[in-house]
Amino acid sequence: MQPALTFGNYQAHFVDTLQQLEAHEVWQRQPFTIVLVDSNTRAYCLPRLMELAVFQDALILEVPAGESTKNLDMCEHIWESLLAAKAGRDAVLVNLGGGMVSDLGGFVAGAYKRGIPFINIPTTVLAMVDATVGAKTGINLGGVKNSIGLFNEPEAVFFHLPFLETLPHEEVLSGFAEMLKHALLSGQEHWDALVAVGPEGIIANPELIIRSLKVKQAIVGQDPLEQGIRKTLNLGHTIGHALESESMRLGKPLLHGHTVALGMVAELWLSMQILGFPQKDFKAVSNYLLGLYGSFLNIDLSLDNLAELVGNDKKNRSKQFSFSLLQQFGKPEYNCNVSREQLLEALVYLRGSL
Ligand code: GLY
Repeated sequence: MQPALTFGNYQAHFVDTLQQLEAHEVWQRQPFTIVLVDSNTRAYCLPRLMELAVFQDALILEVPAGESTKNLDMCEHIWESLLAAKAGRDAVLVNLGGGMVSDLGGFVAGAYKRGIPFINIPTTVLAMVDATVGAKTGINLGGVKNSIGLFNEPEAVFFHLPFLETLPHEEVLSGFAEMLKHALLSGQEHWDALVAVGPEGIIANPELIIRSLKVKQAIVGQDPLEQGIRKTLNLGHTIGHALESESMRLGKPLLHGHTVALGMVAELWLSMQILGFPQKDFKAVSNYLLGLYGSFLNIDLSLDNLAELVGNDKKNRSKQFSFSLLQQFGKPEYNCNVSREQLLEALVYLRGSL
């Protein structure tokens, strides 16, 4: 069995059977268990969890699936449900789902009664390689993705790979984009290994999921609060988040990974202009990304709206656009200044290549 990976003060465990969860000491310390699910994980994953003794008396809270659920009204609804159930500081919240559930649940847990512990059980590729490790939690506000949030560490994360077997292909593809990002940050050989297997081969090759997690672990371990090198994990996200927010505003929400992949095309174009990312690598990487994700971008790209949304990005300092870019495979740089003209040119390039 894969040994646990340590992140900050908690561990990410790989469990072949869900019974292994019961060995964790949190259930003795926090006897009131609450499980947060969405409509998908309630149907496909919760029944498996409910077979365990520690979940027999759990309170189940269900929220609608989809990123638009990550809002303040939903937090209020969950907090009210916790109060109504008389959940106290002896409660533990179990986030059973993808990144939306763990972002929302981790934030709700962090603020309820000044903080109750939580456990993440990711059920998507994206949540396994990214969202549930690294302690970022949060919600969207005013149309801006993840604008309210906390760094809040879970008690533990449990990876149970069979949960991935019920995922639709688009969800796997979304998580694969974050894995491709990790490969770009780590080196050409990692990229080639992922491309050789492709999104359809990921679930049969869990060592690639673990490899991705180790890239994230190494970066977060150096900079848990994103003061420096952790910003490199935002490759593709500055423009990706703007695309994601815009797609939600237009009522045609795109999956997070799909927008990150397209954001990476535009941001690698900027990398080529600003940091000299090699043109031949740009062609190969962007062709691959566009081939997998290009057809999903079914919204009109308003350059002004996108530039406005990029202006809200958390990495910006004063009025400059600040990006994480790539000098070459495995050589990221952060705090790269990008002018409005360069940003617009990158968006025009993306729009023209679809
Ligand atoms: N998803 C990027 C990070 O965790 O820093």
